[in-house]
Amino acid sequence: MESNEFIDNLISKMTVEQKAAQMLQVPVSVVGMEEARKWARLGAGSFLNVLGSDMEELSRISCEESDLKIPVIFGIDAVHGHCLNPDATIFPSQLAMACSWNRKLLEKVAQVTAAEVATEGIQWTFSPILCLARDSRWGRTDETFGEDKYLAGELGAAMVKGYQGDDLSGDCSIASCAKHYIGYGESSGARDSYDTEITMRKIREQFLPPFRKATEAGCATVMISYGSIDGTPMTINKTALKDVLRDELKFDGFTVTDWDTVNYLITRQMVCRDHSDASRLAALAGNDMIMSSLEFYEAVIGEVREGRLDESVLDEAVRHILTVKYRLGLWDSPLKKGIPGSIGCSAHHEAALEAARQSVVLLKNDGFLPINLKRKIRKIAVIGPNADDIRAQYGDWTYFTHPVPGIEKEPRRPYVTLLEGVRDRLEGTGIEVTYSYGCSVNRRYYYKGNYPGIPEFMAMCYADNDHDAETYKELPFINEAVSAARGADLIILALGDNYDQTGEYNDRADLNLSGMQEALVRMLGTLHIPMITVLIASKPLTIPKVVQKSDAVICAFNGGMFSGQAIAEVIFGDINPSGRLPISFPVMTGQNPVYYDQLPGWHDGRYVDCPKNPLFAFGEGLSYTWYDYSDLKFDVKTKTLSVNVTNKGGMSGVETVQVYVHDEVSSVIKPVKTLCGFTRVELDAGQSRTVSVKLDDEAFETVLPDGTRVIEPGMFEIMAGHSSKDEDLIKVTVEL
Ligand code: NOJ
Repeated sequence: MESNEFIDNLISKMTVEQKAAQMLQVPVSVVGMEEARKWARLGAGSFLNVLGSDMEELSRISCEESDLKIPVIFGIDAVHGHCLNPDATIFPSQLAMACSWNRKLLEKVAQVTAAEVATEGIQWTFSPILCLARDSRWGRTDETFGEDKYLAGELGAAMVKGYQGDDLSGDCSIASCAKHYIGYGESSGARDSYDTEITMRKIREQFLPPFRKATEAGCATVMISYGSIDGTPMTINKTALKDVLRDELKFDGFTVTDWDTVNYLITRQMVCRDHSDASRLAALAGNDMIMSSLEFYEAVIGEVREGRLDESVLDEAVRHILTVKYRLGLWDSPLKKGIPGSIGCSAHHEAALEAARQSVVLLKNDGFLPINLKRKIRKIAVIGPNADDIRAQYGDWTYFTHPVPGIEKEPRRPYVTLLEGVRDRLEGTGIEVTYSYGCSVNRRYYYKGNYPGIPEFMAMCYADNDHDAETYKELPFINEAVSAARGADLIILALGDNYDQTGEYNDRADLNLSGMQEALVRMLGTLHIPMITVLIASKPLTIPKVVQKSDAVICAFNGGMFSGQAIAEVIFGDINPSGRLPISFPVMTGQNPVYYDQLPGWHDGRYVDCPKNPLFAFGEGLSYTWYDYSDLKFDVKTKTLSVNVTNKGGMSGVETVQVYVHDEVSSVIKPVKTLCGFTRVELDAGQSRTVSVKLDDEAFETVLPDGTRVIEPGMFEIMAGHSSKDEDLIKVTVEL
C-alpha cells in the first residue's frame, strides 16, 4: 500500500471511537434513517443498500456534521446491473453471462453498471462473485460464473476492470468487491453458510485462483465469506485473510465482512462468548470493515481501552479503508458523478440485449431450429409458467427480491418476456400466437388470473406429488394449456424455476422441475406437435425426460430485461447461438457434484443407477453451423498453442475455442483435465482460421501439500476443441 501523508495525518488525528466508527458499515434498511443519521454524525465509514435522497442526506451529514468530515463510501449489490434501482438496466445473471465466455462482454457490462451506479452517486458494488458452483443444489449458483476456476477468474477480472476503469477516481469508476472469500460455494451438502470441508491445499488449487486474478486486476475490496473452513469461521481465519490474501496475493485494498458475521460468531457459529471476543478476533484476523454488526463499535473500543487489543490493529484497518476512499477521489467528490441521464438509457439497454443474446445456449436441436417462417406455419403456442413472467427472467438480486426502503417493488417496463419476444417477432406475419400459463412452478408462486370455479387457495398449493389433492387442482391449468396448443404447428414451452427457489436460504434438495411442470410436458407430448423447450432458470435442473420429449432445447438461465427478445431471435434464426455452458447439467440430483474437472478414481466414477456423464457437459453448446479442428501445435518455449478451426456449415458463427491441460504424472492427484485457455473466434460459412492461445504458467502448476506452486517436469496433454467432452477435443502431448 502506498504511503500517503494525507491519510497518515488523518489517522494521527483520529480517536479510538472515530476509528471504530470508520470500520462500520451500517445497514440502513435495518436501522432506519434516524439511527443512520446518528451513525453518520459519529463518522461511520459506510452504509449499504440505501438509494436516492436518503443516501444524499447521509453523505452530506458525514461531510458536514461529523468531526473529521471523512466522506462515506456507499455499497450496493449491483451484481447483474444496478438492479436494486427499478430504473436501471438489468443484465442477465452472472451465470447466464458466463455462457458468453466473453471477457470483453463482461467488461462492458461492468462498465455500464458502474456508470449507472455512479450516476446514482454510489461508489462501490459487491461484485463480482468468484465462488465456484460445483454442486448446483446450492441456492446461489446463479450468482457465480459456474463451476470452473479459470473461467471465473478470467470473467471476474474483466468485470473488475470494467467497474474500476483505469482510474478509480473517474466519474464513472466504482470500487469492485471480489466475494465471497473463500471456499463458500463448496459448503457441505450445498447448504448455504454451512462448513466447507476442504484443505488449504485444495483452496490454493481450486478456489484461490479467481481471487488472485481479481487482485492482480486491482480489485479494491474483498468480501469475507460468512462460511467456515474445517470448523474455523472465515471471519476469524487469520491465515486466509492475512497470510494468504495480504502476503501471498498482495491484496492492498480493504476487506469487508459479510452480513452480520461478527455477531454470527456468537449466535450461529458459537465460537465466541460475547461481543468483546468476537470483535477483537474479527479485527485481529484482518477484517477492515464490519458489515451490520453494530455492536462491534462499543465492543472494540472497550477492547482497546482495556488493553486487550492494540490500537495499531484499528489503524491498519482504517488505513486500508481510507486509502480506497482516497483512490476513489471522495475528498474531491464525495458522491460519484456518473453521467446524468444514463440510468436505463438506450445505449445501456442495447448492451443488455447483446448480453442476453450471448447468454443463450442451444442444448439440443434435432434439425428443427432455426424455424423457417417461409414454411407453412399458421399457429404457434407459447406455453409455460416462465413464458411471460419477468420475475423468473430477472432472477435474484433485483428491486423486488431485495427491496430498498422507499423504492417500488413492482416490475417496471421496459422488458421483453419470451411471449412478448415471440409476438413481436411474428407481428405482421399473420401467424397466430396463443398463450397459456400451463402450471405453477412452485408453491409460493401462483397465477393471479381469473379462473372461474378455481378457488384462490388452490393457487398456493404445493404440488409435491401426483396424489396430492391440491396438485389435482392444477390440472385445469394443464388442460387449458393443452387446448391452447391443440392445432398449433409448434409449441414453445418455457419451464424452469422462480426467484424464490434461488438465492440465500433457497438451496434445493431436488433439482427436478418443481410443481406440475413434468406433467405439463407429458400432456403436451401427447399432441405430437414439435416442441421447443426453453429453460428459464437460475441453475441447471435435472431435465433428461424433457430433453427426450423436446425437438430442441434452449437454456437461457436468468437472461435479464431483454432475454425474451434474444431467445426469439435464436428460435427464428436472426442470430446464431454462441453460448457455451459454464456449468454441467446433472442427469439426476444425486449425480452432483458432476463438474468436469474431477479427480480420477478407478471404479469408473459411475453410480449403479445413473450414467457416468452429465446430461450436458461444461463447455457444451450448439450452433446453427459446426466447426472442425485440425493441426494442433504447441510451442513449449512461448507456451502458445495454435489450432486450425473451420466453419463447416452454411451460416457464419462464433466458436469458443476451449483449451484444456492434463498433467500425465504429478505428485498429487490432479483433475482429469483443466480449462487453461479460451478464445472466441468469428467465422463465416466455410472460413478457416488459425487460432493462437497463450497459456499461463498456472496451467501447468501443481499445488503441493505445503501450498507451494511448482511446475513438475514431465509430459502434459494439451487439448483443444468445442467443449470439455473427450469426443470434442483433439490433443498433443508435450514435454515441459
Ligand atoms: C449477504 C450476501 O452474502 C452478500 O453477497 C451481499 O453482498 C451482502 N449480504 C450485502 O447485501
